[in-house]
Amino acid sequence: MKGHAARKIAVLLSVAAAAIFIATAAPFTTAGAEDDSSPIFGVKIPAGYRQWELIAPSREAGFVELRGILGNAVAIKAYSEGTLPFPDGAMLAKLAWKEVPSAEFNGAFVPGHTTTVQIMVKDSKKYTSTGGWGFGRFIDGKAVDRAQHETCFGCHQANVKDHDFVFTRFAR
Ligand code: HEC
Repeated sequence: MKGHAARKIAVLLSVAAAAIFIATAAPFTTAGAEDDSSPIFGVKIPAGYRQWELIAPSREAGFVELRGILGNAVAIKAYSEGTLPFPDGAMLAKLAWKEVPSAEFNGAFVPGHTTTVQIMVKDSKKYTSTGGWGFGRFIDGKAVDRAQHETCFGCHQANVKDHDFVFTRFAR
């Protein structure tokens, strides 16, 4: 009985030691990058974003991809009431998939592999130099590099500063 308890403790201790080892080693194995959050902004892919409501689809010349722009409840409320600027807590997601021919119907095109998930988070106190928006771009769940994140606000600002830096209008 006593030996059994001691063995149990030994096992627990080695599990704890392994957990500590993994926790401390992990940052080094990923070269110090916190790659589930974006550089500059520290934005992560929000939990449950795939359940958000569709604002609109979109497409862009030169890209063989299908896109959908989604918003969380705060963003959708702002859209429906025409509130600008978007209030803090509003979040937008732009999802892009490779456009592939349907295996089941000739001439139809369907989403293939997810290419990117892009996120905008409104926090007017935190992101004062980028119109109150934090940006994150993720490929296969990992944030892309700093250089790409330096481009986000510039393009949104140059084109849609009168719509709180948001391109997408609600598709009814
Ligand atoms: C060269 C211009 C350009 C750059 C750079 C850019 N975007 Fe956008 N973004 C757009 C356009 C245009 C749309 C409208 C939807 C579309 O094109 O599919 C958009 C839409 C979005 C949306 C949906 C909300 C909205 O504004 O319509 C998010 C989220 C987003 N971009 C995030 C990002 C992130 C994150 C980055 C940086 C990694 C980034 N964007 C860089 C042009 C740009």
